[in-house]
Parts: sequence; C-alpha cells; structure tokens
Amino acid sequence: MSGEAFDGLQEFVEACKRIDDWREIENADWDEEIGALREVTGELIPDPPMLLFDNIKGYPAGFRVVGLLTASCKRAALALGLPVHEPRAKLSELASRKMREVKPIPPVEVAGGPVMDNVMTGEDVDLYRFPAPRYHAMDGGRYIGTGDCFINRDPETGFVNAGTYRMQVHDRGLLGLWMSPGQHGRQICQRHWERGRSCPVVATFGGDPLVFIASHNRIPWGSGELEFAGGLRQRPVEVIEGPVTGLPIPAHAEVAVEGEAPPPGEESRDEGPFGEWPGYYSGGTIGTGEPQPVIRVKAVYYRHNPIIHGDAPMWPGARRGGLEMGTGRGGVADLARAGIQDVVGVGRHLGYIRVVAIRQRYPGHAQQAARAVAAATRNGRWIVIVDEDIDPTNFTEVMWAMTTRAEPSRDIEILENCWSTPLDPLMPPEKRDSGDHTNSLAVFYAVRPFHRRDRFPKVSRSPRALRERMIEKYRSILPFPVP
Ligand SMILES: Cc1cc2nc3c(=O)[nH]c(=O)nc-3n(C[C@H](O)[C@H](O)[C@H](O)COP(=O)(O)O)c2cc1C
Repeated sequence: MSGEAFDGLQEFVEACKRIDDWREIENADWDEEIGALREVTGELIPDPPMLLFDNIKGYPAGFRVVGLLTASCKRAALALGLPVHEPRAKLSELASRKMREVKPIPPVEVAGGPVMDNVMTGEDVDLYRFPAPRYHAMDGGRYIGTGDCFINRDPETGFVNAGTYRMQVHDRGLLGLWMSPGQHGRQICQRHWERGRSCPVVATFGGDPLVFIASHNRIPWGSGELEFAGGLRQRPVEVIEGPVTGLPIPAHAEVAVEGEAPPPGEESRDEGPFGEWPGYYSGGTIGTGEPQPVIRVKAVYYRHNPIIHGDAPMWPGARRGGLEMGTGRGGVADLARAGIQDVVGVGRHLGYIRVVAIRQRYPGHAQQAARAVAAATRNGRWIVIVDEDIDPTNFTEVMWAMTTRAEPSRDIEILENCWSTPLDPLMPPEKRDSGDHTNSLAVFYAVRPFHRRDRFPKVSRSPRALRERMIEKYRSILPFPVP
C-alpha cells in the first residue's frame, strides 16, 4: 500500500510538479495577496492545484511560500504514499486505514542535514528574512508559523511532543504563540513555567509533509508525533540534536528556529487578531483578553531556497485537505476505539458539521454512534448520522439525507455542555472569559428508522455503478469531473 516517502518539502514539491498538480505564482504580495489567492483557489477550483509563490514582493527569488499543499486528492495521496490515480472514496479509505494502523518508528539522530545550509545566531537572527504572509485583512501581523511544527520536551517524562500552533512574527527575534487550552505543547510549557524557568523549544516552518500531518493530528499524550511520522514514512525521521536546546530538529526542515518560551509573567505579548478556521477572527488576545506566550529565538537554520509552508486557516468553504483521513477527533479511529461497529466513513463540512455513515445493525446503533462522536469531539455544532448509502464527504448527499430521513420533531437531539474552544464565534464573551469553553451540539439522525428500514421508500436515484458506467461511457462528450 505504501509508496515513496519524501525527506522534505522541497522533494515533495518536486514530486507534485512531476504529476503536474501545481501552479507557480510570481510577484504576489506577502501582504494579503497570498492569503486571498489561496482562499479563492481553494473555494472555486475543485481539487485545487498546489500554489508555489516565488519572487514574492520585496523578497529575492528562491525565498518561497507554498499553499494548498495537500488540498487535492492526488497530492494528499502522494504525501501518504498511496497510488495517486485511485478514486477519492477508495483513497479516503486507504488513507484512514494507513493512519489507523501506523506502527511508530523512533527518529534517528544524524550529524547534519540540509536545514543547516544557512545559520543565523545571536544579533544576526532576523525572521523578516523570510516572506511570512499576512493572510487576512485584519490579521494583527505576519505569520511565519501556520503549516508549522512546534517541538518541546516534557520535563517530567522526557517525551518529545510536536504540535501545529500559529506563530506570529513580533520582531526580528521574537515570535508569538497561540496554543489553545489543553494542547500538549502548552501543557509542557506550563510544566516548565511551574518550575520557574523558560521552556526550550524548536519550531519548523515547512518540512516533510508526513511530519506535518503527524504534528497537527491528535496523537495521545506521551506518544511522540516524530515517532508517528516515522511509522507513516516506514523509515525514521532524521533529526539533528539542536546546538542550543538539545531538542530534535528535523534535518530536512525548510526553516527551523531554536529558542525559549519564557513564563508569561516574565514576557508575553498581544497576539493576533488572526482569521481562524470558523471563518472569523478569534483566539489569541481578542479571544482570551490576555497577552500570549512568546518564543525568544536564539538561532535560525534554513535550507537554500527555503519554502515556507503557508497553511493558515481559510474561510471554511475553501478546501485545504484533499482526503478525509478519519483521524480527527470523533473520526473512524476514535469510534472504533469506542466500540462502535460498522462505521463506513466520516466527513467534516464547514468546520462544524461532523458526519458519520454507519451500516445500522441494531436499534439504538445510530444514537450510540452519535454519543461516541460527541464524547470525542471538540469544536462541533452539528453531528449528522447517515446510512451507509450516503457518502459522508458529499455535502449534497448529506443534506438530502437530512431533509428526507430526519423528522425534525423526533430526530434532532440537543446535547449540552460539550467540549468547545474560545474560537467559537457564538460563545458569549462573558462565558469565554470565565473559561467555560463549552457549547451545545445538535445531532441529526438522518438515518432510516431502524425498525422500518426495510419498508422505507426505495431510493430512485440511478444506482452508483450505473452512474459510474455512464460517466465513463460518455466522458469524451460531457465534461464530467475527474473522480
Ligand atoms: C494548519 C493548522 C493550524 C493550527 N493552528 C493551531 C493553533 O494556532 N493553535 C492551536 O492550539 N491549535 C492549532 N491547530 C490544531 C493543533 O495542531 C492540533 O490540535 C494538534 O493535535 C495539537 O497537537 P498536540 O495534540 O500535540 O497539542 C492547528 C491545526 C492545523 C491543521
């Protein structure tokens, strides 16, 4: 099942060029233009191409930003080492199985690597050397860290965590951090701060796409993301022992920094505003009313012709992921662990709508699945349970099931006090400031009632196999989309 694993981002970008799934964009401005072009491309072009920005305004050629890295089905498959020409549904299934069955492989230490091509230390540190974009019109600054990886070590157990948290450039040598409450990287910082000292950190801005996938997926506390990435790669991630912190620096990262996050009482800064995934400015100082942690950067390392991975949140109608991997909270993996049988797929729409397709086996199966999703989910608004004939990733099919299989007076259930975050635009400011980050969820049981599933009206839509046959037969005449 597994194909090529890429050492770094530059190698992956070259492979995307070989399958002709990219566009080069010259002369864009880091100020709003990169952000806006990414968003309209992700919104208006199905399976959008990778955007490689070069000759960015005010920057020399070669200092690049890549956007929509794995936003097409083919590129997501390529990153995961899956056969790129399979149809989306098959690839989603393979991707989700691969993520579920990963056997972690620890990183291996090497003496050097491309990330050490160029070094800045002490007074020479200058983060403005890189074309960090300001993505949204009202962002409070430039964000070098979006498709990033923040690495720190737990002082109690010694385990090394990696997480993706947004990082703002405050100054030549100062970064701002927004880590949601409960994030593992934040818990580790807090453990250092409670001991009255700064937390040593490494952050990378662009690198092996599988390290990035591991970094923004929820890997249980205590098991490292670098190990998970090694498992996905089926060979270890090469790391260099950081000269300043002793932390592992992925040897093929595009840009890496070493430094320390001081206790917020010692130094912190207003962070944001920043356009977040619900489609509103949130988080950081406007979300909490408080200044946020910083990283004092002691050293910067970067490859020749570095590529910053620009993966800032977009309005949720724009596509940033090419495949449903079933790994998010409440995904196939969580449901399987909770003992929910016959989950055939999951989907997420507009950030807040989580859909689970099940093959109903017994009365109450749909209710059991909904509660398991609610238990595992953070940031939900609607949970929709559908039958196995509905593709949970197809928004139109999901809406059709909701309008024809859910009777509002009977099949909508409201769950209170569910786990949310301060990013929720509906959360009243007093509730947000009190730290009560909970919301309600509506569950839609858009399934045929179990007890009369055999007598439910038969679906009149042409069967899937016949539709697929027609598409293949008449593709040369009609402009059907590629599967
Ligand atoms: C592109 C992207 C950006 C993200 N930015 C943030 C962020 O700014 N703050 C945050 O707390 N989580 C952010 N996340 C979510 C975390 O990366 C995710 O919850 C991850 O599991 C955190 O790692 P941890 O479990 O080791 O804390 C982001 C995710 C993605 C995909």
